[in-house]
Amino acid sequence: MIKIGNTEYRHGLFLAPMAGVTDKSFRALCKKRGAEGMTTEMVSSKALIFKDKKTNALCEIPDAERPCALQLFGRVPDEMGRAALLVTKYNPCAIDINMGCPAPKIAGNGDGSALMKNPELCGEIVACIRRYLDTEGFYDLPVTVKIRAGFDKAHINAVEVARACERSGAAAIAVHGRTREQMYAPPVNLDIIRDVKRAVSVPVIGNGDVTSEEEAVHMLEYTGCDGLMIGRGSLGNPYIFERIAYYLENGTKMVERSDAVKKEDIIFHMTSLIAEKGEYTGTREARKHIAWYIKGKPGSAALRDEVNRAETTEAILEVVEKAFGEC
Ligand SMILES: Cc1cc2nc3c(=O)[nH]c(=O)nc-3n(C[C@H](O)[C@H](O)[C@H](O)COP(=O)(O)O)c2cc1C
Repeated sequence: MIKIGNTEYRHGLFLAPMAGVTDKSFRALCKKRGAEGMTTEMVSSKALIFKDKKTNALCEIPDAERPCALQLFGRVPDEMGRAALLVTKYNPCAIDINMGCPAPKIAGNGDGSALMKNPELCGEIVACIRRYLDTEGFYDLPVTVKIRAGFDKAHINAVEVARACERSGAAAIAVHGRTREQMYAPPVNLDIIRDVKRAVSVPVIGNGDVTSEEEAVHMLEYTGCDGLMIGRGSLGNPYIFERIAYYLENGTKMVERSDAVKKEDIIFHMTSLIAEKGEYTGTREARKHIAWYIKGKPGSAALRDEVNRAETTEAILEVVEKAFGEC
């Protein structure tokens, strides 16, 4: 059991934030299938301050998927503090700071993973958000950070960044064991996750390439981390959370969910995605999820071609029907 702020997590199994993927509909499904905690897609502190409408939609957290943290990106401490106050109205379980995004349009601006070049600034951002929250009485709302191993292999400084954030009041630290330079390429550096765990006393969440029960146990045992954050391993496979929980509790693997259950889950996901985003955007976003869900199924290449042309809810569900059989 781990505790962040006032929220307790049985195994500390978190869905990693993924922009363009972990929207409300996917978070709801992962929650139903065992994810204990979520984070919104990253939200720009600047856009919040400028009251961008689309940005506000990213911040909404339906009750069914709580506890859910809200992730901010930015590099100006005062803006991050003001943005954190603005999002308190969505009642997140934590304000998380993105210190890991490698995308050129984010890191190139000095946000996300670029923050790791300056540990002192990382600490200042945490402290400034903490100050804004405390001033308005949000003492119990934790500030957490999500970092990488470092910016590049010559600067593996996650321990220094984690210490600076802890000193400034961070309540938990998620560590993706890769540098920015690596983007998403292997290997994941488990040693740095272990070193961060040894260096701080707040909970540490390990992240990177956990796609199975065995990899989950290996990361937990090797690094001593308190919980796991799973990103790409959940794509097309929201069952990974309940499977890992089952394995941790029983030492054996959970029987695979039937195609009928999977089909029901996918229909739930797709219909809520399309309801949330409208048919035009929803069906286009649904395509990549369907491709992940049908991976490995007989005839998946042809079905993928078909779904990539789908423009209506019916056309999307028809592909699901073909892949998972009639109910
Ligand atoms: C499509 C995509 C979008 C992502 N968006 C975010 C994001 O908004 N915020 C963030 O902190 N990390 C983001 N990440 C990084 C993931 O949270 C995670 O750290 C990374 O994928 C490594 O974990 P994994 O190997 O389990 O996928 C993203 C990753 C992917 C693949």
